[in-house]
Amino acid sequence: MIERIEFLQREIQEYKFDANNTAENFRLLYLSKKGQITELFDEFKQLEGSEKKEIGLPLNQLKRVAEDIWQNQKSTEEKVNSSTNHVNFDTSLPVYQNQPGSPHPLKIVENELVTIFSTLGFDLAEGPEIEDDYHNFGALNFADDHPARDMQDTFFIGDHVLRTHTSSVQIRELKKGNLPLRLIMPGRVYRNEAVSSRSNCFFHQIEGLYVDENVSFADLKQTLYYFVQQFFGDGTKVRFRASYFPFTEPSAEMDIWAGLDTEENKRLTKGTGWLEVLGCGMVHPNVLESCGIDSRKYTGFAFGMGIDRITMLRYGINDIRDLFINDIRLLNQFKSY
Ligand code: PHE
Repeated sequence: MIERIEFLQREIQEYKFDANNTAENFRLLYLSKKGQITELFDEFKQLEGSEKKEIGLPLNQLKRVAEDIWQNQKSTEEKVNSSTNHVNFDTSLPVYQNQPGSPHPLKIVENELVTIFSTLGFDLAEGPEIEDDYHNFGALNFADDHPARDMQDTFFIGDHVLRTHTSSVQIRELKKGNLPLRLIMPGRVYRNEAVSSRSNCFFHQIEGLYVDENVSFADLKQTLYYFVQQFFGDGTKVRFRASYFPFTEPSAEMDIWAGLDTEENKRLTKGTGWLEVLGCGMVHPNVLESCGIDSRKYTGFAFGMGIDRITMLRYGINDIRDLFINDIRLLNQFKSY
């Protein structure tokens, strides 16, 4: 009998309460008239005096422990019930309208860009926002003393950096060595800049990369013309200006004609009517070689543009910070249903 008492003691202490194992179930199983502990007491009554002495104490203890557990659970259940049961529901009230979220304007534009380039056979790729110096600078042909590596321009995390551009993803993809490749690579980038209505310490870019045999600057221009017609509309005027990036040669920047007819356009274009939208160029042979690609056999072009700028342009958003304060009044305007 002492063994059964010990066994039950262990069993009740490990008893798991849940929706189907309530305080009442516990009581029925152990403490009710037909409960196992009550049964033990019935047997106890038939015992000899000496045995009674031995068994009495542990048996009473078992009962006390069981009653404590039961009481505890009962009051827990009562608390839970009183907090839910006292709400009076008016079942005749109309239901709350379900309010699904809306895509963020940046995401709408990014998706559109990805779609436009996918019609030209560009696949989607992404890379990490925390990068090492090698992917963000070194393999992209930045000199060791290039000013972009300065603390003033770049956020450092130990010996890593928050990527300053999506060009780092070019390196990750080129290293995979699956040529030819045609990729579009969107993502968030970070720069240590003074925050203002025009610039933020993080923003979004979309990178394009095409590497194959015989890729030329003419291919680059034609691809970007197509993009401009699709995104900004037929007849949008475009110009290329010579520029410099360590990872492209030759390099250029592309402007689109925004016009000077409104005060907003004058401000946005600093009085020129031209709005810079992207940097581009032919992938520098040093970049191809540092990724193990034969630069005599393969050539390629790359471009990178800011998504935030063209989102602001498209929707008439005057302050870049408005894109990140999550004001529901702004976001609700982008519902697509
Ligand atoms: N990474 C450059 C920037 O952030 C843009 C660029 C991408 C230029 C690809 C040329 C080629 O300004």
